[in-house]
Amino acid sequence: MDKAVSGFSKLSKEEKIEWISNRYFSEPGEAISLLKNYWNADEKLQKLHDDFIENTITNFYLPLGIAPNFLINGKTYTVPMAIEESSVVAAASKAAKFWAERGGFKATVLNTEKIGQVHFIFKGTTTKVGKLFTENKKLFFEEKENNTKNMQKRGGGILDIVLNDKTDLLPNYYQLHATFETKDSMGANFINSCLEQFAKTLKRLAQENTDFNEEEKALQVVMSILSNYVPNCIVRAEVSCKVEELADKKTNPQEFAEKFVRAVQIAEVEPYRAVTHNKGIMNGIDAVVLATGNDFRAVEAGIHAYASKSGKYTSLSHAKIENGIFSFWMEIPLALGTVGGLTSLHPLVKFALEMLEKPSAKELMQIVAVAGLAQNFAALRSLTTTGIQEGHMKMHLGNIINQFEATDEERVLIVNHFEHNAVSHAAVVDYIESLRKVKV
Ligand code: MEV
Repeated sequence: MDKAVSGFSKLSKEEKIEWISNRYFSEPGEAISLLKNYWNADEKLQKLHDDFIENTITNFYLPLGIAPNFLINGKTYTVPMAIEESSVVAAASKAAKFWAERGGFKATVLNTEKIGQVHFIFKGTTTKVGKLFTENKKLFFEEKENNTKNMQKRGGGILDIVLNDKTDLLPNYYQLHATFETKDSMGANFINSCLEQFAKTLKRLAQENTDFNEEEKALQVVMSILSNYVPNCIVRAEVSCKVEELADKKTNPQEFAEKFVRAVQIAEVEPYRAVTHNKGIMNGIDAVVLATGNDFRAVEAGIHAYASKSGKYTSLSHAKIENGIFSFWMEIPLALGTVGGLTSLHPLVKFALEMLEKPSAKELMQIVAVAGLAQNFAALRSLTTTGIQEGHMKMHLGNIINQFEATDEERVLIVNHFEHNAVSHAAVVDYIESLRKVKV
């Protein structure tokens, strides 16, 4: 059957599902009912989800878990996390409890500046385009005024616009580099619409400039778009305690602290390790970002760029022992919103924000950064002591049990057995088979 298609988006949802099922599945009926099983019985709710994107055929579930006991700047938060990886919520909860018993996390927003750029080609001298910009800089702000009024009322707006000469990188390449304050919104729409207006103003000014020749008048705007790299929108998260307070049942605190610091130093100097180290941080960050309806791709891209800002990819977090005090901290860029976007549309996002007691964007930056640091602490704690597989496989056990559709009775036996035995996929399969053999 032909798999090329035109006008797919014009088909109804039912027709789309039929089209796919008939072409890609040996049992189309089964594929259709699988998709429909994930439809929400509440038609209004389903329609809301259908309309988020184009060509929606069903919903794709991720678990929404809860990590309680996050003590941040003296306030206790119950943190929502949307993630599929078995051990993440358990690890976050464990780290949160551990630090709540040692004074909790401290988090500080250092700055909140967002960035956008108009990239353009000008085939004239830098002096000419510079003159055009400086003589008309005010106009860029004025011509945007109507659209910025609301943002200004909330205390935000355009902070500055500068002209950057990038001709050493690419012939005739210049940019308007604008900075913004967007308060509680992530600001993507606001920034992009400001930039598109700047682009129009810029083109018009070039066309009308009587000192410009024809080539100069034809100034070409290549694109106008916000940057997801926000190195001046930084939040710091940290924990510290006396080394001896790190003691628990199993660990010698001095040995643990030293090994932990060493593990962080390895991530600071070794990019292969740094990527995995930072991935552990992103386990916490993405899960909260997603649950609160923020753009995790933007956050990921910005944070990894920040991790390479020295020219070499390195650890986002740092640790030290000084005068008997263990400190562990991280500074990361986070452009988040608690208004606009999905925040008032997706019912579970609304739920998550309400559970966080309707935080401002700044407060959410603090919570998200702390979730990342907690996750990093939990991962390094496991890695430098028991190894991660013990905890990870214990959590994964449930997935293997589900895969084999174990009965309730089998489930109890399996869980009991693996309380005292190492979990591996093969070991669980062997055990399930041995249970089933006995029955036969
Ligand atoms: C797994 O999702 C994350 C870790 O690999 C992070 C780390 O190695 O630090 C455990």
